[in-house]
Amino acid sequence: MIPFNHLGWIFKTIGPAIYPRKVRELFCLFLKLLSKQASVLDLGAGTGVMSEFAYACRDDLRYVAVDPAEGMLKFSPEYLQTYKATAEALPFEAESFDMIFMGESLHHFQDVDKALQESVRVLKKEGRLFIYDFDVSTFMGKSICRGEKFLGEPGNFFRPEALKKKLESYGFVAFIDQYGYRYTISAQLKKE
Ligand SMILES: C[S@@+](CC[C@H](N)C(=O)[O-])C[C@H]1O[C@@H](n2cnc3c(N)ncnc32)[C@H](O)[C@@H]1O
Repeated sequence: MIPFNHLGWIFKTIGPAIYPRKVRELFCLFLKLLSKQASVLDLGAGTGVMSEFAYACRDDLRYVAVDPAEGMLKFSPEYLQTYKATAEALPFEAESFDMIFMGESLHHFQDVDKALQESVRVLKKEGRLFIYDFDVSTFMGKSICRGEKFLGEPGNFFRPEALKKKLESYGFVAFIDQYGYRYTISAQLKKE
């Protein structure tokens, strides 16, 4: 396993550099669709790198973060309300959030389906989801996947199309943007 509890200071320092500028720009545009005081959940937040990008373009939202590693959360900014928990068992009531984002975290979840069920449960009707991760069909994506599995991580990496299909099966409408070996999925839930 990667000892995230002891890596907070590293992620705080180098974490932002792992996000291409175009991803940050798209993320910002997606956040602009939210109304004032909307509640957003940074899932697998680590030190809150994605929340910091989000806050830079929307400082009028309610920021919540979940991560099992306290050693990561303790480096997060003060406007982030943090919870030590996992994506598979979210400590929130149904329909609590307008948006969830997952930055390089989905592939670390032990049970992606359980995490998506939980995400659907806590998202409001028409809630939005933004995922940033590595494409396992590329050379870099495969190498990262092999490296993480070697370290004992679940390595739940997807081809973007496969993850899009999975999201659709949970009731999302989803769009992929590709950045070399990295990709984002911008999605919206269509709850009955
Ligand atoms: C590569 S870090 C990414 C952190 C942050 N999103 C960023 O972009 O810097 C992956 C994070 O996923 C967290 N994580 C691992 N398993 C998890 C789970 N089951 N539920 C939620 N978060 C998890 C780890 O503790 C770690 O902080």
